[in-house]
Amino acid sequence: RTVGVVLAGGVGQRVGLNTPKQLVKIAGKTILEHTLALFEGAPEVDEIIVMMTPGFTDEVERIVALNGFRKVGKILEGGASRPETTWRALKALGAQECDVLLHDAVRPLLEPRIITECVEALKVYSAVDVAIPSSDTIVVAAPGPRGEIVRDIPERSGLRRGQTPQCFRLSVIREAYERAFADPDFDRRPPTDDCGVVLRYLPDVPIYIVPGSEHNMKVTHPVDVFIADKLFQLAAGTAPEHSPFAYREAMEGRTMVVFGGS
Ligand code: CTP
Repeated sequence: RTVGVVLAGGVGQRVGLNTPKQLVKIAGKTILEHTLALFEGAPEVDEIIVMMTPGFTDEVERIVALNGFRKVGKILEGGASRPETTWRALKALGAQECDVLLHDAVRPLLEPRIITECVEALKVYSAVDVAIPSSDTIVVAAPGPRGEIVRDIPERSGLRRGQTPQCFRLSVIREAYERAFADPDFDRRPPTDDCGVVLRYLPDVPIYIVPGSEHNMKVTHPVDVFIADKLFQLAAGTAPEHSPFAYREAMEGRTMVVFGGS
């Protein structure tokens, strides 16, 4: 049994609107609707749990009813931080054994291929991450006399950018979170994602990496809303200058899409 947990408990401070960014509409639907539609349509996923920003669960009820999403079993309020939201979801899942796919609600361009590969990988590994190579050089910064200075530049070939879903056997991620929340130091320097919690508290558990995709972007800053909107338009063939065929070809890396070109 596989449960998709859609983490939508944040406020989207960096996008900076007065509603959470997962309720922003792109290509005619909210970001959350696009993400839920993906999990609803994934044959590997049996049930969906939505963790929503406190005060906005009614909005999710409305979205679920409107779209007829039948896999959504629970709609719950998230916590004050992402790890707290995950922890609440794990507690709601209780003592059953199943596989969980923890996904950022604000990654609405997840490809079904990634879900399939994660579920396959969970047959062998109990923890699975999704990551892509970094096209930027990653610089380790340290405080300097006036602002920051470069402390280190790790070799790029070994670096990856972590995405979601992050996928686990429920007993493994539950154990990692039980240890995390029993650790008085956890709040002071919490890991930024769920694989980080497993890595820190269950260091012997190998975490397999499924190759992610550049399209599986996280809507984080205002510019990301525009980029995601454009990608949806291209996928739907509604962008005036491209056919869906051109988009698919670009996806396969056979041609290059030149924005604004003829
Ligand atoms: N998230 C969550 N609960 C929180 C914080 C974040 O479920 N308390 C979710 C967000 O809704 C989002 C995902 O985690 O889908 C990735 O987090 P991020 O992009 O940092 O979202 P926000 O916390 O909303 O953004 P910001 O940091 O700009 O406020």
